[in-house]
Amino acid sequence: MFKRMQSMQMKALHCFQTVSPERHEYRAIIALHNTRLGPALGGCRCLHYDHEQSAFDDAMRLAQGMSYKAALANMAQGGGKAVILLPKGIALEDINREHLFTWFGRCVESLNGQYITAMDVGTQVNDMDIIARQTRHVASASNIGDPAQSTAQGVMAGIRAALDFNLGLCHSENVIDGKTFAIQGLGHVGWRVAKELLRQGGQVIAADPDEEKCWQGQALGMTIVDVQSILIQPCDVLVPCALGGVIHADNVMQLACKIVAGSANNQLAHDGIAEQLAQRGILYAPDYIINAGGLIFAAMQYAAGDDKVLLDSQIKEKIEGIYDTLNEIFQLAQIQDSNINAVANALALQRLQSGKPSRQNKGAVYDAA
Ligand code: NAI
Repeated sequence: MFKRMQSMQMKALHCFQTVSPERHEYRAIIALHNTRLGPALGGCRCLHYDHEQSAFDDAMRLAQGMSYKAALANMAQGGGKAVILLPKGIALEDINREHLFTWFGRCVESLNGQYITAMDVGTQVNDMDIIARQTRHVASASNIGDPAQSTAQGVMAGIRAALDFNLGLCHSENVIDGKTFAIQGLGHVGWRVAKELLRQGGQVIAADPDEEKCWQGQALGMTIVDVQSILIQPCDVLVPCALGGVIHADNVMQLACKIVAGSANNQLAHDGIAEQLAQRGILYAPDYIINAGGLIFAAMQYAAGDDKVLLDSQIKEKIEGIYDTLNEIFQLAQIQDSNINAVANALALQRLQSGKPSRQNKGAVYDAA
């Protein structure tokens, strides 16, 4: 484990366990990847894991991703992630969530602000509200709100950056107008992006297994196709907003787009796919850069506490910065004749290593080592 931590430059792994009144055993891991730029922010996953090792791997990989995301979003924030391992053989509805998240809130509090938790797969706003009764180091309780609108704003900025770059333009007007977009997933983020693209004159092709969402999309003027064919629709921009790993060895040669730019985490099945996209002349906006709007929203809301004067406009402005970050990375990749993912990762590492520790976020204590 120590070797793996070292290879990932992981700062610390904190492990916790407890037994509930129902005699259910709960375990949690809080991985702190890097706190050099600020306290580590990252969601809390709450899942059944087949093996303990998979939970450690998940926590470390996701914490590292959060460090890179925060560094390239220019946030005074480090990267961390929590994983709660649900007891084997206990159904979700039998979990005493009040007890579980009260306990987890105390685990977070014990780290004294080095880690700020948030929602992720398997956790809901209600769980965050329970945590918030034990610690103030939580960034997605109901007093903060849904980050999806901010994530969608960032995706729009990223789509514009990618279209402009392909056309040799910068901050052009109306670059969306007349272009075609294929959106996989009309959920919290995809729906908002789809509506905004339509509003700006784009043509939207979309797919979602949820028929209700498809009907609603069709009523607004979207062309609905089946979920199997959305990725290979001829279009200017493919916008994955559903699942991870959707672009893989079996479909990368069939994509019929010029750009891939969407919110889904880990869109590429593995790093080698970025190279194949580059060889095909398809511009890829790295997911952890283009989907950073939600992180920016949560981090700025958290840091502001009750002092929310002018906050909305500051958050919007910061999210618009995703355009310039992507533009810089597209240009660097072109100059270095290198794959965009590799350039982005190198830039994130450079910022993590050279970035000066930020001033402490309000009330948060962290170790700038
Ligand atoms: P969501 O769960 O609200 O929406 C996902 C949508 O995808 C659902 O409507 C679902 O029916 C649909 N879907 C599932 N399988 C599909 C398939 N095979 N083909 C087409 N559609 C399919 O999730 P949300 O919040 O919109 O997030 C979308 C993606 O963006 C996820 O990967 C998430 O991890 C990522 N993300 C979301 C952020 C946020 O602020 N919500 C922040 C950063 C990343």
